[in-house]
Amino acid sequence: MRILTGFLLSLILAGGASAARAGYTPDFDSGIDVRLAIEAALEAASSAGGLLPEPQGRPAPETVWVSMEKSDVAALDGALFKRAPVAQNKRIAIYEYETDRLAALADGMQRSFYRAPGFFAHDTLESALEDLKAPPAVPSRAYTLDQAARVRDLAARVKEEPVLAVINAMSAFKNRGSRYATGVDASKWLQKEWAKFASGRSDISVAPFKHAAFPQESVVLTVRGAVEPEKVVVIGGHIDSVAGYGDTPAPGADDNASGAAVTQEAIRVLVESGYRPSKTLKFIGFAAEEAGLRGSADIAAAFKKEGVQVEGMLNLDMVNYKGSEKDIYFVTDNTSADQNAFLGRLIDTYLGYTWGTLKCGYGCSDHASWTKNGYPSSYAFESTFEQHSPFIHKPTDTLGSCGGSAVHAAKFARLAAAYAAELGK
Ligand code: BES
Ligand code: ZN
Repeated sequence: MRILTGFLLSLILAGGASAARAGYTPDFDSGIDVRLAIEAALEAASSAGGLLPEPQGRPAPETVWVSMEKSDVAALDGALFKRAPVAQNKRIAIYEYETDRLAALADGMQRSFYRAPGFFAHDTLESALEDLKAPPAVPSRAYTLDQAARVRDLAARVKEEPVLAVINAMSAFKNRGSRYATGVDASKWLQKEWAKFASGRSDISVAPFKHAAFPQESVVLTVRGAVEPEKVVVIGGHIDSVAGYGDTPAPGADDNASGAAVTQEAIRVLVESGYRPSKTLKFIGFAAEEAGLRGSADIAAAFKKEGVQVEGMLNLDMVNYKGSEKDIYFVTDNTSADQNAFLGRLIDTYLGYTWGTLKCGYGCSDHASWTKNGYPSSYAFESTFEQHSPFIHKPTDTLGSCGGSAVHAAKFARLAAAYAAELGK
């Protein structure tokens, strides 16, 4: 179980919380009633930007197990790593680490690589050792393209204005961090917006996916398949944002209001067109990606445990900053090469955009959670790795920093709709 934000934030902000709006009723899967604790903390709060406290009953342990890329360790300040790893493979090393030094480690990562936190913290060694295992092999499958009329209809319906509206609304929440009251609000807001698409359609439902370890909920819109409902296609992106710790505004317009907005636009055109897919489509706004892929880790693991047949997953994270020559880039590591090739064919056949590839070099977003659980996943991205938006994880990640338009994002909405139609058929 990943526990990163919990410990980091509770240490750094010393339990501070304020400005949570009245009427918030947390409801955790774990069955722990944290309302009293939250109320007490809110009363005692000083001024830490609406941060909600740790759920009761999860005291911070003194040590955790951190898994990190070895190349990162080598490049970091040696003072952070005067110790031998307790386990390692070619790429990843695991260290026992004092909880109260995690903040310094995250800070070192941010200064060296502009990645925060850039490592995973686990509360047991057993959980950390999972990170050393190769992900389960994904069985190969055939991808066919024969839904031309459907795809062209959907692509023609995509508009920039609804995408802009979602980016504006989401980036207006001061900080969508998974432990912030405003992060909880943003998730609730998206649930309400998506619920509008379910009215008048008995095959469409919207539900939160609740997480035991943090209050922000993931948002799931399901279009139940008309022929093979047990087969599921997942499309989504994270809804949380980050910009350092504490009271800093984190508009996260590109990272990742843009991906959530594109996910919603794909839903909107599918509903508007009256499309009824054969397979089940699940559109998901993932909570707590910036805290270490925690929302998607919970969901993908739950799906695997329940034996859900996920036909494919498309991750949309940072899709509105046109930093490079080509239109769409696919991440080639921690993704399915077969499905990436299928997405390239979708573009060539129906959309006519230019596309390229990039590598993250680490499990940089929610696609990695699906790969880890043996599901074919892909990650469509705005640019090359080097030319991505320089504003992310800062208060300057605004729509204005993306040129104030959604021209770039709209391409990804067309791709998502095409993917839904050809994989969901
Ligand atoms: N959208 C980013 C990932 C990203 C950034 C991909 C730049 C390509 C270029 C994502 O939200 C993020 O910030 N991920 C974290 C890692 C995660 C495990 C916390 C990161 O990159 O530090
Ligand atoms: Zn990010």
